[in-house]
Amino acid sequence: MELTQLNLQNLRQDYRMASLSESDVAADPILQFQKWFSEAVNAKLYEPNVMTFATADSDGKPSARIVLLKGFDEQGFVFYTNYESKKAQDLVENPQAALVFFWAELERQIRIEGIVSKVDKEISEAYFQSRPIGSQIGAIASAQSSVLMDRSILEERVAELTAQYEGKTIPKPEHWGGYLVEPKHIEFWQGRSSRLHDRITYDYTDGSWKINRLAP
Ligand SMILES: Cc1cc2nc3c(=O)[nH]c(=O)nc-3n(C[C@H](O)[C@H](O)[C@H](O)COP(=O)(O)O)c2cc1C
Repeated sequence: MELTQLNLQNLRQDYRMASLSESDVAADPILQFQKWFSEAVNAKLYEPNVMTFATADSDGKPSARIVLLKGFDEQGFVFYTNYESKKAQDLVENPQAALVFFWAELERQIRIEGIVSKVDKEISEAYFQSRPIGSQIGAIASAQSSVLMDRSILEERVAELTAQYEGKTIPKPEHWGGYLVEPKHIEFWQGRSSRLHDRITYDYTDGSWKINRLAP
C-alpha cells in the first residue's frame, strides 16, 4: 500500500502502560535514571543504551546522532567517540549538549541537558582495552566524520593495522576517548492516554535538584 499523507496521519498509538507522579520519583534524578534503565534492561529492549546526542556549533547550528551509553553515575553519562569528529568539533565551540533516550515498548522518553567534558585518559584507556580487537583497530583506522574517497581505503588501512598489531596490545589512540555529559536538566516522560503524558523534570540549581511537573 502506498504510504500517503493520510496513512501517515493515521499512524498513532494511545499510551496506557504506566504513569509517573511526583511522589513516585526519586529525589535524585540519577537514581530515577537507574530505576528506569534497569526496567528497560529487564524488559529486554534491543539496545536500551542507544541515545541521541545533540550538539550545536558556535553559530547555534544543531547536529544530532546516535551514540551508546557506556556508563553513568552521580557525575553524569559517558559515551565514547573520536575526539576529531564533527561532534567533537562542535563541543570545542560549545560544550552544551543534550541526550535523548526513547524506549517505545515502555512508552518512555528521557531527556538530559548538560555540559560535556572529556573523561580521564585512564578511564578511556581501560574501556578501549576492554573492546573487541576489531573495534580497537576501527577506532585507529577511521578518521571519523572526514570525507572518505572510497571504502577500500578504510579496508586497506584496517588490513595494515591488523597485520601490524597481530599478537600485540593495541594502544588507545590520542584521538579517541570518552565524554562525560554532566546533567543540569533531566526530564522523565511517561506516555499517557489522549496525549496527557506525565513529564517530571529535575533542574540543578543552588547545589540541589528541584523537581517540577511540566504540561504535556
Ligand atoms: C546504534 C548506533 C550506535 C552508535 N554508537 C556510537 C558511539 O557510541 N560512538 C560514536 O562515535 N558513534 C556511534 N555511532 C555512529 C554515530 O551515530 C555517528 O555516525 C558518528 O559518531 C559520527 O558522528 P559525527 O560526524 O556527528 O561526529 C552509532 C550509530 C548507531 C546507529
